[in-house]
Amino acid sequence: MSVLLTNIGELVTNDPAHGGRSGTGPAGTGRSGPDRADAAGGLGIVRDAAVVVADGRIAWTGPASSAPAADDAVDLAGRAVLPGFVDSHSHTVFAGDRAAEFAARMTGEPYTGGGIATTVAATRAAGEGTLRARGRALVREMLTQGTTTVEIKSGYGQDVATEARMLRIARELTPETTYLGAHTVPAEYSGDRAGYLDLVTGPMLAACAPHARWVDVFCEPAAPTAFDEDESRAVLHAGLRAGLLARVHGNQLSAGPGARLAVEVGAASVDHCTHLTDADVDALAGSWTADLAEDGMPPAAGPGRDAGPGSLAGAAGAAGAAGAAGGAGGAGGGTVATLLPAVEFSTRSPYPDARRLLAAGVPVALATDCNPGSGYSSSVPFVVALAVREMRMSPAEALWSATAGGALALRRDDVGHLRVGARADLVVLDAPSHLYLSYRPGVPLVTEVWKDGVRV
Ligand code: NIG
Ligand code: FE
Repeated sequence: MSVLLTNIGELVTNDPAHGGRSGTGPAGTGRSGPDRADAAGGLGIVRDAAVVVADGRIAWTGPASSAPAADDAVDLAGRAVLPGFVDSHSHTVFAGDRAAEFAARMTGEPYTGGGIATTVAATRAAGEGTLRARGRALVREMLTQGTTTVEIKSGYGQDVATEARMLRIARELTPETTYLGAHTVPAEYSGDRAGYLDLVTGPMLAACAPHARWVDVFCEPAAPTAFDEDESRAVLHAGLRAGLLARVHGNQLSAGPGARLAVEVGAASVDHCTHLTDADVDALAGSWTADLAEDGMPPAAGPGRDAGPGSLAGAAGAAGAAGAAGGAGGAGGGTVATLLPAVEFSTRSPYPDARRLLAAGVPVALATDCNPGSGYSSSVPFVVALAVREMRMSPAEALWSATAGGALALRRDDVGHLRVGARADLVVLDAPSHLYLSYRPGVPLVTEVWKDGVRV
């Protein structure tokens, strides 16, 4: 069964072969680094376009006037079509809320991460059904706003049973699941950090690894309940030994070791990056230069390169990605800087310096970090608008970062773009162009979402 989506006013493919640098992207930097795979390469825009979807994949893209026939046709009346958003950082399985903490922040309280304990208590107390229903509802909320790929972390259990429960539920919702037992040290271990580290790197990891693709740690020496450099390294190494791939929460509250540690262990992403030193930016940029293949493309971004479970052939759903843990598919590639401006918005903190990262050639992803504490927005369009308005990313850079950038941060080559063979994950905007995402902030422009070739 094939479907022709036609009369598309603006089609964003993220395929530099369509439009190249002459599209809406900023001028290229002339470097032969990862900028070839970022917004500087253009969004691959085709105007007056059509897409053919077959068997859940993109079968053809190009001018509507030369579209091939298909079994069915949908007229999109000049609307814009984008790749589905890839939200590479969320905490959407939890119980309770922290609205009062948010209100206190808005009248002057700082964010320290201390409130995580409130969510841990609520999550431990919640039944499995409650957690599942809540997680499902949030993922549905994300989907209706255009997010077709989402990563979900544990980290509000902080005991073996609850961490494993969170990840089992998360795995029902997405193949991109992350073990974050090392989110904070729970109260019962406050006098025994080493004991908690032993739990996180021992029995808790053993119970969680079968349900996870990734391992993460809140590396933030400035927060007393988070983890310092040595502790974080131990957590990441244990996860890697168990066959997981690494990602890091780092440099959120202070300039700490997170970004450099992420590069050191070959993490796919360091997330937050609110406080980076020049050395951190150099390390992130260097992680790509060192890793470039002959054609100058980061391996994870190269079309058809990744033959592992995150690839077209392997990521046929949760079961496929379950096999990703330990597979060669996600290895390789540098460290993406994932920026989470909804957190700075909701904690009233200074925004990360996206321009510095982009100027250095570091691939940037944008994600929501949807969680009940530091930022409870599930909306990638909101994040895109913040990135443009508050971090001075161009609309093209922000859209690339929320699609292809997120895919790079998850080492996925089957999502985040609309090249032939990609998953047919599409967003239809009730607008003529992607510029409207930031031009009309707060307006529900996402009018249709297609996931794996099916309108949802
Ligand atoms: O990504 N930084 C640590 N973890 C979350 C916040 C979780 C919370 O406050 O509940 C984050 O911001
Ligand atoms: Fe987070």
